[in-house]
Amino acid sequence: MRKPFVAGNWKMNTDSHTSVSLAEAVASGSSDIAEQVHIAVIPPFVYIPAVVKAVSNARIAVGAQDVYYEQKGAFTGEISSSMLKDIGCTYALCGHSERRHVIGETDELVNKKVGAAISGGLLPILCVGELIEQRKASQTEQVVTKQIKNGLQGLSAGKVSAVTIAYEPVWAIGTGLTATPQQAQEVHALIRKLIGEMYDSQLAGEIRILYGGSVKPSNAAELMAQADIDGLLVGGASLKADDFVSIIQAAA
Ligand code: 13P
Repeated sequence: MRKPFVAGNWKMNTDSHTSVSLAEAVASGSSDIAEQVHIAVIPPFVYIPAVVKAVSNARIAVGAQDVYYEQKGAFTGEISSSMLKDIGCTYALCGHSERRHVIGETDELVNKKVGAAISGGLLPILCVGELIEQRKASQTEQVVTKQIKNGLQGLSAGKVSAVTIAYEPVWAIGTGLTATPQQAQEVHALIRKLIGEMYDSQLAGEIRILYGGSVKPSNAAELMAQADIDGLLVGGASLKADDFVSIIQAAA
């Protein structure tokens, strides 16, 4: 039985004050349902320690939006999984759409990050998803399959059991255009089947697959009603505590 998982990716938003007030509001708003859902907030790196402290008495995990693939050394500006683990992080996003398409991260880099996150004791959230041109050209299956095969390259089933996958169609991120529950379910089923082919049916049955892309309180329940949608990766709506808590309630 896969427990629902709702994560809020704050992206490059909030400040030292609002990161803490948002985390506290999510903690108090979700306290009565936090046993039924895994909840994570994913603030900008610099606010992680304050947010970890703010949710220390709540059942809320904290994640990082990215992670580097080396553990230490001369890599100016980068942050390792062991550092993130050290300050209380549980999760790390790997290969978020904005890192792939704005910063230029490749599947190979994302693969190293997923492996390093696991080695450092974090649970990676591997993000995949197609561009609008790729969907229009009926390449969604091909694109997502490649991102998953390359992203998990060389990782054993034991390691992949630490991974959560997030399907975030690029055309649905921050656009207000949500994939229909059927469109999302189709890709989620494909991902689960692929994990079964790459590893085994047990892992395919256990791995959590989140949907992300313009998730709102008004569409969360119908997305969560799909058989292979195990949770939601929320951007914009996770910046408003009330909306994020409503989404958590819809998932519970
Ligand atoms: P929005 O919910 O703002 O579309 O962002 C989705 C996302 O990228 C979460 O990682």
